[in-house]
Amino acid sequence: MGVINIKSKEIIDKLSKSNNASREELLFLIDNLNNEDKEYLVEKAHETRMRTYGDSVYMRGLIEFTNFCKMDCVYCGIRRSNKNADRYRLTYEDIMECADIGDKLGYKTYVLQGGEDPYFTDEKMVEIIKGIKERYPNNAVTLSLGERSYESYKKMFEAGADRYLLRHETATKELYESLHPGANFENRRNCLKNLKEIGYQIGAGFMVGIPNQTNDDLVNDLIFLKELDPHMCGIGPFIPHKDTPFKNETAGTVDKTTTMLALTRLLLPNVLLPSTTALGSIDPTGREKGIKAGGNVVMPNLSPTRVREKYSLYDGKICTGDEAAECRMCIENRIRKAGFRVEVTRGDNVLWAKSNKVNETSKNKVKVHNLIINKL
Ligand code: 5AD
Ligand code: FES
Repeated sequence: MGVINIKSKEIIDKLSKSNNASREELLFLIDNLNNEDKEYLVEKAHETRMRTYGDSVYMRGLIEFTNFCKMDCVYCGIRRSNKNADRYRLTYEDIMECADIGDKLGYKTYVLQGGEDPYFTDEKMVEIIKGIKERYPNNAVTLSLGERSYESYKKMFEAGADRYLLRHETATKELYESLHPGANFENRRNCLKNLKEIGYQIGAGFMVGIPNQTNDDLVNDLIFLKELDPHMCGIGPFIPHKDTPFKNETAGTVDKTTTMLALTRLLLPNVLLPSTTALGSIDPTGREKGIKAGGNVVMPNLSPTRVREKYSLYDGKICTGDEAAECRMCIENRIRKAGFRVEVTRGDNVLWAKSNKVNETSKNKVKVHNLIINKL
């Protein structure tokens, strides 16, 4: 049995009380975290989530609607240079069908995710968003389509989109530029600023264990998040993809990823923090570990099974063969076994809901079980 490091404990206590720490303190923690420190960190992150969201874990139905992408992110399996990628686009009807299935399964949030695909113009996106909102006005629509103009974001917001996920990927300029040929570090940050200004609930986020990433870079990510104060934050391990220049690189670890999740929970107590599919892909119980370290969102797949394999950002992605209903039951069982409660409400950020006077308890709160029994 080891012992807890006094200095680490002090920093974790400070984080837990004030939700803040200096760059030096964060770096010290990440550099020196032993097993006992980690256990304490996870305990404090858990306490914090219990104060803000309780034991609820929110479900989002993920619709991967295009794997065409004009970008060339070095790590990503759907980068435009990957000639082996089998490209697909879902039609409007396909997407509505996914939304119908999602609603039947009880989801109150859809995440429309895709590569940066110019085929999906603002007009097409507006039509899709309106189509979903007309059918399911109480369900939230989250977009994850990469960088677009201010006007484009605004049009989609006005059409009814509620949230937007755009991971910042890394807050270190040089690392960002080496990973994203032709992309612009400032532009990405500007997009996040624009999205927030327009009124979206925004999600930033980064990968853990990306080649050449140092602990200093991870501290940059944490400091950036603290400043940006997003409503959501997606954090997952980097996993190599066989058709990318990073094919022989090592994946990020569960340990480092859960450390970053726990630190993010302490820095941003109100953030919605997914326990990602990537985390579940490097460890059979990765998502459970992420939830125990402060994660409170899961995003089961709603995409048609015939395209699942094709939305391949990294190798070994889980859930590619499972029907939406199977994923739904599987993840629900996992959450419950881990000691948490499944929530199928819209799951807005608590602070956002307060300032926008959304009262979930009276409006949308439906216990999962009744719902499944009634609808399936
Ligand atoms: N490993 C892990 N995550 C990846 N992403 C893209 N490629 C990979 C990979 N090889 C993440 C990026 C992106 C999100 C949709 O998926 O962070 O923002
Ligand atoms: Fe998809 Fe487990 S969540 S099969």
